[in-house]
Amino acid sequence: MTELLRIEDLTVSFGTSAGRVKALNNVSLSLNEGEVLCIVGESGSGKSTLALSIMGLLPHNTEISDGRIMYRDIDLLRAGPDTMRDLRGREISLVFQDAQSALNPIEAIGPQLEEVILAHSSVSLRGANKMAQDMLSEMGMADPKRVMGQYPFALSGGMCQRVMMAMALVMRPKLLIADEPTSGLDVTLQAEILHRIRELVKEQNASVLLITHDMGVVAAMANTVGVLYAGNVVETADVVPLFQRPQHPYTWSLLQALPRLDDPDKRIEPLPGTPPDMIKLPPECPFLPRCFKAQNQCRTDPKPNLVEIEGRHSVACYNPVVPADEN
Ligand SMILES: Nc1ncnc2c1ncn2[C@@H]1O[C@H](COP(=O)(O)OP(=O)(O)OP(=O)(O)O)[C@@H](O)[C@H]1O
Ligand SMILES: [Mg+2]
Repeated sequence: MTELLRIEDLTVSFGTSAGRVKALNNVSLSLNEGEVLCIVGESGSGKSTLALSIMGLLPHNTEISDGRIMYRDIDLLRAGPDTMRDLRGREISLVFQDAQSALNPIEAIGPQLEEVILAHSSVSLRGANKMAQDMLSEMGMADPKRVMGQYPFALSGGMCQRVMMAMALVMRPKLLIADEPTSGLDVTLQAEILHRIRELVKEQNASVLLITHDMGVVAAMANTVGVLYAGNVVETADVVPLFQRPQHPYTWSLLQALPRLDDPDKRIEPLPGTPPDMIKLPPECPFLPRCFKAQNQCRTDPKPNLVEIEGRHSVACYNPVVPADEN
C-alpha cells in the first residue's frame, strides 16, 4: 500500500488574550492511497485545526511549532504559496465544517464553481460551465442550471453542503478532507454524501480524511481511525480492531456510549466530566481526570506516547483496556 499523507509530530497552537490554546500536540497520523481515515473526538479536540493545517489555511494567530505534513514527497508546512495554491482544489480539497459560511456570499454558485475549474485546468469558460453543471447534477441536484444562478443565502443547508461537495470533487482530487460533511443533514442526504465519498475512493483510488463525531459514520466509512483527545492522538487502528478491541479508555468510553441493536437493555453510560482547558493542558495524560483505568503512573509520569501494540494499532496509555477474553 502506498502512503499518500503522513503527519509527523504536528504541534499547533493559537495565541489568544487568555493564553496559548494548544490545539494539536505532537500529532502523528498516516493515510494510504485508496483509504479513508476517520478522525473522531469531541468538540474542541482539534479536528478542524488538523484539517486546516493540511490545507495551509490556518488563521494568523497560529503558531506551528513542530512537525511535518508530508503529501507524497512535499512537506505542506514548508511548501511555498504557489505550490499550495496549485495543490489546493486540484489534488487536495476540503469540505468545510460550515458549508454555508465557507461559500462566498456575494457571488452566485455557478461562478464560484467555475472559478475552481478555471484555476486548475485549461478549459474554456463554456467548458467550465458545463463541468460545473454536470458536477451539480452528479451531486443530485434536479435543476443545476437554476442553482448555478443562485446565491448561497437562497440555498438550504443541505443544498450548500452539496455545492461544497461539488466544489471539492469537481477536479477529482487525490486527497479529500471532509470536516463533518454530514452533520446537521437529514439521513437521506447524509447517506447520499457518504455514498459520493465512497465512489470517489473506489473510482479514483482517492484518499479521504473524514472528520466526524459520529461513530456510525466511522463504522460505515473508515479503513483506519485516529482518536483525538484534547489535541492528542490517543489511539489509531484499523476500524475493525478499534471497534472490537478499543484499547484507550477514551475510545472505549466513546464506543460504550453507542446504543446497541443487539442489546437494547444496555445502559448507555455518558462519559463523566469535561474536557481539559486547552490553554492549561497538564504535563500528565489529559484524559486522567475522566479515566476509569487511571493508576499511579498516570499521575506521576508525563503523558504517555503513542506506542504500537500490534500492526497498525497504536495507543497512548499506561494502562490500556484489556479485552475481556484476555483477563
Ligand atoms: N483561531 C483560533 N483562535 C483561538 N483558538 C482557536 C482558534 N481556532 C480554534 N481554536 C481552539 O482550538 C481548539 C481546537 O479547535 P477545533 O476547531 O480544531 O476543534 P474541533 O475538534 O474541530 O471541534 P468541533 O467538533 O466543535 O468542530 C479549541 O479549543 C478551539 O477553541
Ligand atoms: Mg471542527
